[in-house]
Amino acid sequence: MSERFSRRETMAAILALAAGGCSSSSSSSGGSVTPTPTPTPTPTPTPTPTPTPTPLSVAPVKANAAAKNMRFGSAVAWSNAGADAGSFANPSYAALLERDCQILVPENELKWQAIRPSATTFDFGRFDAMLAYAEGKGLAMRGHTLLWHQRRWMPAWAESHPYGAGTAEATRILTEHIQTVTRRYGTRIASYDVVNEAVDPGTGALYETALSTALGGAIPTLDLAFRTARAELPTTQLVYNDYMSWEGGGATHRAGVLALLQGFKARGVPVDALGIQSHIGIYSNTPVATLVANQGPDWRAFLDAVVALGYKLVITEMDVRDTGLPADIPSRDAALSDYARAYLDLMMGYPALRDVLFWGLCDKYSWLQGFEPRADGQPRRPCPYDSSFNPKPMQNAIAAAYAATTARP
Ligand code: XIL
Repeated sequence: MSERFSRRETMAAILALAAGGCSSSSSSSGGSVTPTPTPTPTPTPTPTPTPTPTPLSVAPVKANAAAKNMRFGSAVAWSNAGADAGSFANPSYAALLERDCQILVPENELKWQAIRPSATTFDFGRFDAMLAYAEGKGLAMRGHTLLWHQRRWMPAWAESHPYGAGTAEATRILTEHIQTVTRRYGTRIASYDVVNEAVDPGTGALYETALSTALGGAIPTLDLAFRTARAELPTTQLVYNDYMSWEGGGATHRAGVLALLQGFKARGVPVDALGIQSHIGIYSNTPVATLVANQGPDWRAFLDAVVALGYKLVITEMDVRDTGLPADIPSRDAALSDYARAYLDLMMGYPALRDVLFWGLCDKYSWLQGFEPRADGQPRRPCPYDSSFNPKPMQNAIAAAYAATTARP
């Protein structure tokens, strides 16, 4: 929030500026009343130019991605027209989406909480408006998500629903949900996160919800979600999406996700791709190059195992936490950009990766500002554009990563 000034303070500031301006101009032009006898003019000192920072160029992310048969995209939110939000209805934000993106994803507007206020009602108003915007601009759309498989992210009604004995009611609720969404939008949605975050990172085991317990457990629930989606959408990309990451401490989460993906294959469950959320971050003062060298091998081993099973890869929600970085903005932005570039280079080394989506393009509206503020109270800088909608080094790094990778067939 910028500071607000009263009329009186504003007037005082104007007067002070005017006074400062007068005194400096009178001193530099020499203000004496009596002419001096010295004929030699005093040489005017050459003013030292104030260095103005060169504005960062806006590198062509969309063009570079398209040149490699790839896509770049972002999350987008719904808000009232013109609101100050990461919304397609905010012209400043929409300009970023339209400049860089080929594909969008709703930040919240297709989740159960948004579209299913009760067991018997659906409300698609916000997502319909978002999809209409995307289609009007020629942008593709991802669907997020048909099942966020954690109690805390299910709507309260679904956690307390009278499922009764047997699996019939839970099966009906889940099937109805997925059929209602997929039949409404058909192939207008290019790719779905059918299931989101089913693996507990602490144990590698699958979460349970009231719905999954009534349905006989997490495995039959997730399998049913994918099978129902495939029955409706024979050719749409179906994704299992999670936040296992390359940072230290991620081994149990990765092992749990790999076991789930192996299980899907063994049971013939129709899953096309692993969605790698990519909420990555720098948590210490270790140099970026060291982090990348330390984290790369285990992460590659995980990715190698995933693609060996036949899965495609999608970066679905990228942003970069600056937790371990000092407040100084130029050095913070440089480290975030270098880290993002190294990550993208590694990921783009996998031909199975075609789409990269950020979880928002503008720092001002990043979910991390509220969800996980910095300890020093400084706004986070996790996105490609700053809070004034100017490109940061990360925006250029993304474009450069596409420029450097091999074209997909
Ligand atoms: C987040 C949204 O950005 C927030 O606005 C909301 O309050 C909570 O969800 N992983 C996901 C996303 O799969 O759906 C989450 O989005 C971020 C983490």
